Formats: sequence, structure tokens, C-alpha cells
Amino acid sequence: MNAGKLLLSAVLAASCSLAFAADPVTQRQDVFKDYKKTFGPMGDMVKGKTAYNQAEFAKLAAHLEEISKQPWQYFTPGTDKGKTEAKAEIWSKPAEWKKQITAHQAATAELAKVAATGDMAAIKPAFGKVGQSCKSCHDSFRKAD
Ligand code: HEC
Repeated sequence: MNAGKLLLSAVLAASCSLAFAADPVTQRQDVFKDYKKTFGPMGDMVKGKTAYNQAEFAKLAAHLEEISKQPWQYFTPGTDKGKTEAKAEIWSKPAEWKKQITAHQAATAELAKVAATGDMAAIKPAFGKVGQSCKSCHDSFRKAD
């Protein structure tokens, strides 16, 4: 690659990441879409709708724990407007919001831990606790569809 081409691709890469960073609403919604893709199949296994596969379930649980660290950074001030279901309370009740995140992350960490053991008797309640943490936060901070 010659210098001109190199420079051009560097500029393109920079402007792409800038365009991304400019839309925190899409970024957090993308993480929540990943939540759905991860949590859904786990629920199917817990409920016996699909066969329980210990390795697959543990992988999903580890991924869920990982992405439970991500959406919150994109709830930047002023992003309660437009195509979002985020309630203004996220910004007016920051302590309550933080509490929901902390409880949720503790639940996903616990689920990842028990998922690694493959013990369904422990997985079921841990899974339920994560689901409860999703619902609890949505009830307070996400507009109903
Ligand atoms: C601490 C609060 C909180 C927790 C915990 C939480 N969510 Fe959400 N979720 C939100 C908010 C706020 C939105 C709306 C985001 C927006 O539209 O800007 C949302 C949106 C979503 C969406 C819609 C994404 C889209 O397509 O726009 C899905 C799906 C979702 N959450 C799934 C989950 C699942 C599954 C869990 C648990 C494993 C979970 N969420 C946990 C706050 C939370």
C-alpha cells in the first residue's frame, strides 16, 4: 500500500469511529439486542424448550456477564430524547439507576459462576434473579412499548 492509500484508510477509519461515537443511543440499543440474543437461548434451555447444553449455556452466561458492563456508558446526558425508550428518571435519579446496574451485574456474575458448574438446581434460581433484574430496571427506567 502506498502512503496516500494508507492515509486515506486512516482517515476513513477515524471518521467511522467518530460517527459511531456520535450516536450513543444506537450503541446502547445494540448491546441490549445482544442481551436478547444471549438471554433468550439461555431461557429456552432453563425452561426445557431446547436441550440443555452445559458448555453452550456457560458460554452464553459468560458473555452475558461481559456485556452487562457495557450499555451504561452510553447513557450520556441529553440522550433521553429521540428514538429511545430511556426514561428521563435515569438522569434525575442517578443513585437508583446505579443501584439497578449494580444488582444486575451481581446477578449476571453469579449466573456465570453457577453456569460453569452445570448444576441446573443452582442455575435455575440464578437465571431467575437475572431476569428479575432486567424487569426491575425496565419497570423503573424503560418506557413501555
Ligand atoms: C439498569 C437498567 C437495565 C437493566 C438491568 C436491563 N435493561 Fe434492558 N433496557 C434498559 C433501558 C433504559 C432500555 C432502553 C434503551 C433505549 O431505548 O435507549 C433497555 C432496552 C432493552 C431492549 C430493547 C433494545 C432495542 O432494540 O432498542 C432489550 C431487548 C433489553 N433492554 C433487554 C434486556 C435484558 C434481556 C436484560 C437482562 C438480561 C436487560 N435488558 C437489563 C435498561 C436496563
